[in-house]
Amino acid sequence: FVEPKLQGQHWVVTAGPTQEAIDPVRYISNHSSGKMGYAIAQAAASLGAKVSLISGPTKLEAPSGCKRISVTSAQDMHQLAMELAPNADVFIACAAVADYRVAQVAEQKIKKHEDAMQINLVKNPDIVADVAALNENRPFTVGFAAETQDVEHYAKGKLQKKKLNLIAANNVAVQGQGFNSDDNALTLYSADETIPLSLATKVELAQQLVKIISDKVSDQK
Ligand code: PMT
Repeated sequence: FVEPKLQGQHWVVTAGPTQEAIDPVRYISNHSSGKMGYAIAQAAASLGAKVSLISGPTKLEAPSGCKRISVTSAQDMHQLAMELAPNADVFIACAAVADYRVAQVAEQKIKKHEDAMQINLVKNPDIVADVAALNENRPFTVGFAAETQDVEHYAKGKLQKKKLNLIAANNVAVQGQGFNSDDNALTLYSADETIPLSLATKVELAQQLVKIISDKVSDQK
């Protein structure tokens, strides 16, 4: 068994949540801890890749051997991803990006008046879909699908709609895996393959995932 060698390759990984400001003291976000994406970045770096980790706000230490660039919002993450992706061999979107942001961020803290209030949201750019749509210098593009039901159906839909090479689906409704846990289980879907990766630590899963991606990238060359 020969370890894949990723020397000379540049991998870009997004990880963690995004925060979408409501006003100077409040934001919309989700439960992503960054553990899954950081483990992927670490696994790729351990095999010799140059790794750029675009990270939303997390409490984690930067993985050794990776260049971490911290961002807050989906728009920031999008801008950085579009700068780095054309120079990447592989792009892995593990971040839990907010699908919507607040249409008009209040300049001052919003005061409490009425019993109910509305916040208007507008759609964020789809980072992984925009990377996969690059005409020139398109990296091998991998997405994640975080689902609470009909996992296969929704994951395959995202694979097709976002024109990805591969999607890693996780059922985030199952206790002990998905968001914020140390363990996870993934099913990988490509156009012609289904690869289940059973419950394991995120570190172990990341190593398996990186090896599978690396094999697929060398098959393409
Ligand atoms: O961070 P942890 O606590 O370790 O948890 C890991 C995880 C559950 C966050 C991770 O395994 C995971 O599933 N990440 C993707 C979360 C997500 O937002 O999934 P989604 O099905 O909503 O998005 C589909 C894909 O599109 C993802 O690759 C996502 O990064 C990408 N996306 C989504 C919206 C957007 N505006 N831009 C994007 O690039």
